[in-house]
Amino acid sequence: MKVGVAKETAPGERRVALVPEVLGKLQAAGLDVLVERGAGAGSSIPDAAYQEAGATIVSTDELFGQSDVILRIQKPSASEIKVMRPGQAVIGFLSPLIDPATAQALAKQGVTAISLDAIPRTLSRAQTMDALSSQANVGGYKAVLLAANAYGRYFPLLTTAAGTAKPANVLILGIGVAGLQAIGTARRLGAVVKAYDVRPETREQAESLGAQFVKLKTTIDATGAGGYARELTAEERAAQQAELNEVIGAMDVVITTAQVPGRKPPLLVTADAIARMKSGSVIVDMAASPLGGNCELSQAGQTIESPNGVTIIAPENLPASMPAGASAFYARNITALLLGMVNDGALDLDFEDEVTKSTVITHGGAVISEPVRKLLEPALAAGAGGPP
Ligand code: NAI
Repeated sequence: MKVGVAKETAPGERRVALVPEVLGKLQAAGLDVLVERGAGAGSSIPDAAYQEAGATIVSTDELFGQSDVILRIQKPSASEIKVMRPGQAVIGFLSPLIDPATAQALAKQGVTAISLDAIPRTLSRAQTMDALSSQANVGGYKAVLLAANAYGRYFPLLTTAAGTAKPANVLILGIGVAGLQAIGTARRLGAVVKAYDVRPETREQAESLGAQFVKLKTTIDATGAGGYARELTAEERAAQQAELNEVIGAMDVVITTAQVPGRKPPLLVTADAIARMKSGSVIVDMAASPLGGNCELSQAGQTIESPNGVTIIAPENLPASMPAGASAFYARNITALLLGMVNDGALDLDFEDEVTKSTVITHGGAVISEPVRKLLEPALAAGAGGPP
């Protein structure tokens, strides 16, 4: 079986799905690796490094024409889907719950689509495949570096002959994978760190990394399914906001990472809270997207300054800004997922397996993922992408 590594085509995407270090594992399982020319360039990996590891460098047409499985980071574009062939498989962050239309197009094309963002994350066997976590980790780290870079003062307490610099007060909102890495990174830089989340079990995790957990007077337990948070009710949101506004106003740096699966990110930093912050403070909104983010004023993909001098950074793809490190983790995740689905050098999907059941979104010309089918119900009723 031929495994192809595509060159990413999404704007600003510098990561690559495989790095030379993991090729040996794929070859040991009887797989040949094709790499699209220049696929690793954004991550500082020359074609020669892939060749030395045993891969064949191919053109775009050869990659799409010859690969049995295409590995990538971002979902294929509409024009890339058109050149894929029935029976071919693609693995990547396909975000089918946000973009079910791409899943439908892949089904129509007869492609087997395997989505890394649908991994059952609490299954211990799937931890090595958890690319959402590995990339969130990179994002949490990089968010702190961006904040420190934009902040015009020191993060650590510093005593010098020229006087003493006070440590920065940093607040992390959302203590998932990215938030935990952000806490650790800000602490390593010497900041005084506070953190808040609506899942009470995060308190111990934040404290173990040296952050003070912000305990609101209004008790909110929004633990949802699968370890994720559920959306807050309107009353919970109002109570949370009033108390958070006060905390945010006293911070030098706020990093927001809060997400609720399948929903618009919750608004946590309002314009009112920003107006209370000192000039020179910094906000990094990791949840920013064209749909909105955690911060009311953030503009996805841009850095702006509020009227009272607060810098608001809203990066859309932080892992891509540390491409070599992010790709190295991603490559291990996607390799573990693929090898779990390979038998005798060929793709062998066992739909009784938890990982296969969750991640295979389309197969045999149909959208087979139940949550995605639900989203597509009206279109499926009209006859597109349904069972053959
Ligand atoms: P995420 O990216 O979905 O959300 C980030 C954080 O924002 C979460 O901690 C969430 O509780 C929080 N949040 C949501 N709404 C909020 C609000 N209104 N106010 C404050 N905070 C809010 O989360 P991520 O990082 O993807 O992790 C989700 C869950 O999956 C966590 O429980 C994590 O521990 C779990 N997980 C478990 C793994 C395992 O067992 N192997 C591996 C990876 C993640």
